[in-house]
Amino acid sequence: MVVLTIEIRPIRADESAWCEATLRALPDWFGIESALLDYVRDTRTLPTWVAELDDVPVGFITVRIHNPCAAEIHCMAVRPEHHRTGVGRAMVRFVEAHCRSIGAHLLQVKTLGPSRPDANYEHTRRFYESMGFLPLEEMNDLWPGNPCLILVKTLDSALR
Ligand SMILES: CC(C)(COP(=O)(O)OP(=O)(O)OC[C@H]1O[C@@H](n2cnc3c(N)ncnc32)[C@H](O)[C@@H]1OP(=O)(O)O)[C@@H](O)C(=O)NCCC(=O)NCCS
Repeated sequence: MVVLTIEIRPIRADESAWCEATLRALPDWFGIESALLDYVRDTRTLPTWVAELDDVPVGFITVRIHNPCAAEIHCMAVRPEHHRTGVGRAMVRFVEAHCRSIGAHLLQVKTLGPSRPDANYEHTRRFYESMGFLPLEEMNDLWPGNPCLILVKTLDSALR
């Protein structure tokens, strides 16, 4: 059995084009051009980490720190050929540890809500739920034309 090592490290200044290529490789999730470009721009200004599998970049995660208590997974993506190999789990675990280390108690993520049936986003919601996120609320006025599901989890082991 081949065991691959996943490492998470801060994004480098020259990697936003790679992030853009990664999002463009996932058109079923990142098909809105303006949103895709916003996510790419945000990799330059918000805390972002890259996951490497045996020194090859395979995914990234961007986080927004809202206040001293609460943070959000703003964007995350794994190259399609590496889906379901534990990369997403490793990035979320890394971000959770980082958020705990800065004193945050809550982590949220927003994704397409279930009232718009979509097999791809169904997988995304299953991923977040497998990571311990709970659906908090679906909002219909946050994203033009798309229901937004807010999922949240506590980072405090005493409250879980
Ligand atoms: C969502 C995403 C980040 C998950 O990363 P990943 O590396 O594929 O997921 P992992 O291998 O770490 O999966 C961890 C667990 O999540 C669950 N999970 C992941 N993908 C799943 C799927 N397609 N269906 C059901 N459960 C799934 C499983 O419980 C899995 O554990 P297991 O494989 O031991 O059963 C990745 O698939 C991706 O980039 N998707 C497209 C973009 C996207 O959805 N980004 C988020 C936008 S809001």
